[in-house]
Amino acid sequence: MKVGIIGSGGREHAICESLKKSSKVSKIYCIPGNAGTNLIAENVDLGIEDFKKIKNFIISNNIDIVVVGPEKPLVEGIVDYLESYQIKVFGPNKIASQLEGSKTFTKKLCKKYNIPTAKFGIFESSKEALSFLKNCNLPIVIKADGLAAGKGVYICENNKACLQAVDEIFNGKFGEAKKILIEEFLKGEEMSFFVICDGISYKNFGTAQDHKRVFEGDKGKNTGGMGAYSPSRLENNDLNKKILNKIINPTLKGLNDLNSTFKGFLYAGLMVVKGEPYLIEYNVRMGDPECQTILPRLKTDFAEIVLACVNKNLDSISLNWEEYKSLCIVLCSNGYPDIYKKNVEIKNLSEINLKKDEFIFHAGTKEFDNKIFSNGGRVLNFVVKSENFKKSRDRAINLIDQINWDGGFYRKDIGFKIIDK
Ligand code: AMP
Ligand code: GLY
Repeated sequence: MKVGIIGSGGREHAICESLKKSSKVSKIYCIPGNAGTNLIAENVDLGIEDFKKIKNFIISNNIDIVVVGPEKPLVEGIVDYLESYQIKVFGPNKIASQLEGSKTFTKKLCKKYNIPTAKFGIFESSKEALSFLKNCNLPIVIKADGLAAGKGVYICENNKACLQAVDEIFNGKFGEAKKILIEEFLKGEEMSFFVICDGISYKNFGTAQDHKRVFEGDKGKNTGGMGAYSPSRLENNDLNKKILNKIINPTLKGLNDLNSTFKGFLYAGLMVVKGEPYLIEYNVRMGDPECQTILPRLKTDFAEIVLACVNKNLDSISLNWEEYKSLCIVLCSNGYPDIYKKNVEIKNLSEINLKKDEFIFHAGTKEFDNKIFSNGGRVLNFVVKSENFKKSRDRAINLIDQINWDGGFYRKDIGFKIIDK
């Protein structure tokens, strides 16, 4: 079958690699893809916001199934649009995508179905928000509603920071803001928890620990993710049961009650506090860099899984995973997540000899004149799976050192909570 992947990050390159391994897949198109996907698929230079052109391309190239990587087109309804032309799509519809697109939608669902989450309030003006904040304990978390690409969340330690957060959000720093969310600060350990769904049933799709802060020791600003390891050190059967019973099942029931279902990856961002899971946020797609970290551990044919989801028979296959410990380090452009240069050449990349269980997934890269250039904040993902996290990390760092790229930086301490104790 012919598959189309929408997106251009490390997540999409990893998805592309997994699909390529399947004997079921004859051709892959990446819309628009990056310099890495270009090596194994055909990149198609279309904007991911241009649904009509994407639809025309899919139909005229007889693409059998489409996998949507990023949240933005999902939240904007690309699945509903393509399905209205009888195109098979792996990803949730517009109603279900509100789980990521609107924090207030998710919080209201949590309240109605008793899903454990931080206590919260929703406010429609800065006056209301500020008067509520006067009586809150600090630190407190202030969030913009809607998509903010991993930003738009402030953890405020003092009144000045609260004022600044409310001011920036209502002044449109993350797009037009009609609502603001103020919530209790949860102190615990985060975990990214994934399930894959076909609209009727679902299966676990691994866990990971992301590292969102830009600097070592979890310091500095929030980013899209500087690295991850999988499985999360928190994973165990008891916690797994609690997450499914208290969070995932009631969420899917809530969607059913809205006459909707969930098809695709559902990613619960959790805070685990003394063994109890709390929902921090939902994402309606795979995580990035969690996807690059988790997929190399999957033994089952990924194309068969995607097909089963679209055909609503996920129940018919079992998912098998390698026991390996997988770790991903993201190489970023100097200056990220603030201002950084683009179009910086990355030499030496083609000279690296990847050994078994080593992977380089491209993110913000592009090819020109047979050379590779940076084209974004997060540029390359180095993933290694081995029998322990320390080995995986040492080997990933060794790969990055071989590139010796002076346009970028990375965190050497990914997995520090589990490796450097
Ligand atoms: P979000 O975009 O909602 O995932 O938030 C970004 C990051 O802010 C999360 O990964 C957490 O590290 C942190 N965060 C968000 N909400 C809370 C909370 N209620 N308590 C503690 N940390 C939080
Ligand atoms: N790694 C965080 C995210 O994909 O949102």
